Amino acid sequence: MIALGCDHGGYELKQEVIKYLEKNQIAYRDYGCFDMQSVDYPIYARKVAKAIQSEECEKGILICGTGIGISIAANKCKGIRAALCSDCFSAEATRQHNDANILVMGGRVVGPGLAVKIVDTFLNTEFSGDERHARRISLIESDEAE
Ligand code: RB5
Repeated sequence: MIALGCDHGGYELKQEVIKYLEKNQIAYRDYGCFDMQSVDYPIYARKVAKAIQSEECEKGILICGTGIGISIAANKCKGIRAALCSDCFSAEATRQHNDANILVMGGRVVGPGLAVKIVDTFLNTEFSGDERHARRISLIESDEAE
């Protein structure tokens, strides 16, 4: 199950992502927002983060205007590794190396065609499982990284 969230700056691109998910019969849950009215992106970042923390959803996709604000907010939540991607190479690498659990995009940054390819890459790339990457991920959550 994929958790979706956006603010008004990401609403239109989220609709494109939904079309892709439905076409590919990928189950999703939409945590809002549901129209173009101005809203506060941290609220949606937290809703999607909570869905992952509670294991209701396995991965998430968040979209705001730039992708920056909503990724900063999501990355404050424990266990969340939200990766802002504007290209397929980064989407692939962040799954392989960071085991990112949320893909973030900027609705005012990437066009729908590229965005859908980024989503496809992110959802279809596994974590490498390499010891060095696993070690670095656990250091993110620990105090030992100082
Ligand atoms: C909203 O106008 C905009 O600030 C927001 O979508 C995002 O780009 C923030 O980082």
